[in-house]
This record gives sequence, structure tokens and C-alpha cells, in this order.
Amino acid sequence: MEYFTSTSKASRRATDCVIIGVYERGKLGVGAADIDAASKGEIRRLIKSGDVSGTLGKTTVLRNVAGVRASRIAVVGLGKASEFGAKQFRRALGAAVAAISATKSKQILNCLTLETRAADPYYLGRASAESVADTLYRFTQMKSARKPAGMPLNKIGLAIAKRGDADRVIRGAEHGDAIGRGMSLAKDLGNLPPNVCTPSYLARTAQKLAKSHAKLTTKILNEAEMKRLGMLSLLSVTAGATEAAKLIVMQYKGAGRDAPVVLVGKGVTFDTGGISLKPGAAMDEMKYDMCGAASVIGTMATVAALKLPINVNVVVPAVVNMPDANATLPGDIIKSMSGLTIEILNTDAEGRLILCDALTYSRRFKPAAIIDVATLTGACVVALGKYYTAVMSHSDELAESILGAGMAAEDRVWRMPIGDEYAQQLKSNFADVANVGGRYGDTCTAGSFLAKFTEGMNWAHLDIAGVAWHSGAKKGSTGRPVPLLTQILLSRCGKLPR
Ligand code: BES
Ligand code: MN
Ligand code: ZN
Repeated sequence: MEYFTSTSKASRRATDCVIIGVYERGKLGVGAADIDAASKGEIRRLIKSGDVSGTLGKTTVLRNVAGVRASRIAVVGLGKASEFGAKQFRRALGAAVAAISATKSKQILNCLTLETRAADPYYLGRASAESVADTLYRFTQMKSARKPAGMPLNKIGLAIAKRGDADRVIRGAEHGDAIGRGMSLAKDLGNLPPNVCTPSYLARTAQKLAKSHAKLTTKILNEAEMKRLGMLSLLSVTAGATEAAKLIVMQYKGAGRDAPVVLVGKGVTFDTGGISLKPGAAMDEMKYDMCGAASVIGTMATVAALKLPINVNVVVPAVVNMPDANATLPGDIIKSMSGLTIEILNTDAEGRLILCDALTYSRRFKPAAIIDVATLTGACVVALGKYYTAVMSHSDELAESILGAGMAAEDRVWRMPIGDEYAQQLKSNFADVANVGGRYGDTCTAGSFLAKFTEGMNWAHLDIAGVAWHSGAKKGSTGRPVPLLTQILLSRCGKLPR
């Protein structure tokens, strides 16, 4: 999508569609007030007659309004003026774009502004582009019907009051557009069925990405290579699968010899639970158990597209967790790459088993910071619902920077504890550590398990079990936490406006 800024009045711009907003109780947004004046009160008349509503997201598309140059006007409800913020802005713009998407509009002008955060033109561009990409995303590749012709919309103008804001708005839109594309990649990988999106498919996706960016390289390790490195914890999870496990290693070099930020993503392309088999209800959703991997690969796509001046590595342990005659048994004890022995009491707690070896492997990069991202525990969904990512870290500084990035990117995070009490729950009578620690606080015991493998590293763990996908009628991948991860990186390399 191409973005430009415009200082012309809503009524004066010749374009396919202008988006304007009205609040509840008839208050008009800036663009709406201008169009109302130019059309001799048409907007107010339509509000009065009930044809236009101020309810948040409710959209009416008008054609050929007298006194207005644009051929269409999308009037969208903004809700209560006192409650209008960034979230409402995204919803309103998304609803308006969705309403226009049925028309043949090629170029539109958005006159909605982030009035509360208007002081920050960067976030006007950023939120607009992210919201547009999120709205226009479709997953149709598995449908046999002839694909609907793509929407012709390819150019979006953002109305601004001051010429001087233009550069910042455009920078925000460029970032938002790249984040949107990274999210779309992550959504595609999440939504693809498990018979297509296998560990090898993830590996090929990473290799393809490297081909199109000069600063990006991808290396794939096979099972024999992982065995030689001693990654027996990771390999224990794939023992029952016929699909080959892969360790995907991507390196983006945008800042010479700086220590990299390493992103590790859980890539279980399907989690049956293994011999500790899951119950059948909604088991299909365990195709989303690779959303950590999808988010770090998506973020890499965003970083490479923006050519950020930073070094970033991605490490994805990719496996299928299956029951089989060869599968790992509850009670099996294996030696991880770190040397710690693990008693596998529950084969469904497999995420931590692949992540611990991926984290140990990542030590070779001497990371400035290392963040793992995983749909790790059902307990996280119980604790935080579908809204917040959980962050765990021994570093207050790293945890707080992640919380701050989550707020700024509107991809929110909540901190959860890890430490000795939880690690106690992981005591094993037979090995150095058990892979489960009972019913209580599993998000924290899982985080504390990983902490045993990250001593001395500047590490944080993100549990995205709640936020990675929607269930029910809107079932689908969300693309989260690509905005959060990108925000962390943008902030670390100084590419955010101060
Ligand atoms: N991938 C699941 C976690 C999960 C479950 C995420 C449901 C989102 C929704 C993970 O591998 C798992 O099965 N965890 C177990 C751990 C338990 C056996 C200690 C869980 O949460 O039940
Ligand atoms: Mn599991
Ligand atoms: Zn899992």
C-alpha cells in the first residue's frame, strides 16, 4: 500500500472516497465539519434522519454529495467523544476501509485523526497503516472457489493539519505498513493447516525470505546435525513424528559487529500432546502452536523490509508432537544440550523441551538480549485471557522495556513472576529437573523451567498462548506479537521519534 499526506480540506480533494467521522450525540470530526459546511448541512441532516450514526464503527457510504469533489464519502461513527482514543481510531478506520472495500475505490483520503494522541503524527501514520493491513487481510489460499478479484485500493492519503508533520506521518505509515506485512505472513503461517505448514514448510519460508533480502541469511539444521549438538530434549519431542524436525536459524546483519538481539520462536506445527494425548475438543487449534515461530519470522520480514540498523537473529525449533510406537514416554529421562537431565513427566509439556535446547544453542551468538516467544501454557489463557501477552524475566530493565513497547505498539503485555518457589515445583526424584510442576501457576513454572537454561543471558520469555489466535466464529491467527517485537527492535535501534 502506498501512503501520502494531504493538507487539503476534506471537501476539496478529488479522490475515490473520503473517510470522515462523527461522534455520538452529533459532534462532527474535523473532516465531517468541513464536508457538512460544503454540502450545506447534508451530514447533520443524515444524522438527524438516522441514516448516519455516531456508534463506533458504524459506517455509511454516500455517493455524489453536492459541493464535495470526492465521488464517495464514508461516514464512520467514532463513539463517545470523551472516550475516543487510539483503539477507537483503529476500529473506526478499519470499519470504514472494510465498508469501502466492496467499492471500486483505488485511492482514498482518510480524514480521521487521532485527536487525543494528535500530538504524535508518527502514530497517526503507524496506526493507520496497521489498521488498514489488518482489515484487508484475507486467508483464501485453501478455498477452491475462484479467488475474488483483489481490491483495487492501492493509495491512501492521510489528512494532516500542518505540512511540517508530513515526514513523521509517512515514517509512521512506512513502519505500520511493514509491520502489517510481517503480521500477514505470521497470520498465513498460523492459519495454514498442519498438513501444509510442517517444519519443512517453515524452513522453506525462512529460506525464501532470505533470498529476497541481501542482509538476511538462513541456515537449516537437520535432525542428525541437532543430534551431534546434543539437542536431545528437542529431539525427544519429534520422536513420534514422521515429519522431520528442523532448526531454523536466520541472521539479519544491519549493524556490523554489534551483539545481536536473538528471537526464539516455538514452532510446534501441531501439538497432539504426544503419548499424554490431548482431549479431542478443539484440538484443531493446536495447528496454532507454531505462532511463536510465525511471529519471529514475521518480525524478521518487517526488520528486513525496513532495513533497520540492528543485528537480529531468529532461532526456530520446528517439530510435530505425535504419539507413536517410537514416541517419548512419560517417565523418560533425556539429556538436554545444556547438560541438565530432564524427566519428561508429561509429553504435552513439549514447548519448554524444544525451547530449552534452542536457548542453549543461541548462546553462541552472545546475544545483547534474547527473547523467546511461545504458545506455551493453557494456564496463561486462564490467567490473562485473550488480551495480554505474559512476560517473564529476571531482568527488570528488559521486562520494563518490553512492557513499555507493548503500550506504545498497542500490543499489550503483563508481567508474571518466575523464581525459586516455582522452580521448586520442578523437582524430580530421578533427574536434574522435571518438565512439569503440577497444576498451579503453570505459566510461571514453565517460565522458571526456561530460566534454568538462560543463566547469565539478558533473557525474557513471552507466553502468547492467549493472544496468538481467535477462536469461535472469528477463528484465525492475529499476527501478534509482531507489533510488539518490532517496537522493541525499533526502539533499540533508535528509529522511533522522541
Ligand atoms: N501448546 C500447549 C499450550 C496451549 C494450550 C496453548 C491451549 C494455547 C491453548 C502446550 O504445549 C501444552 O500442551 N501445555 C500444557 C502443559 C501441561 C501439560 C503442564 C497445558 O497448558 O495444558
Ligand atoms: Mn503441549
Ligand atoms: Zn504445545
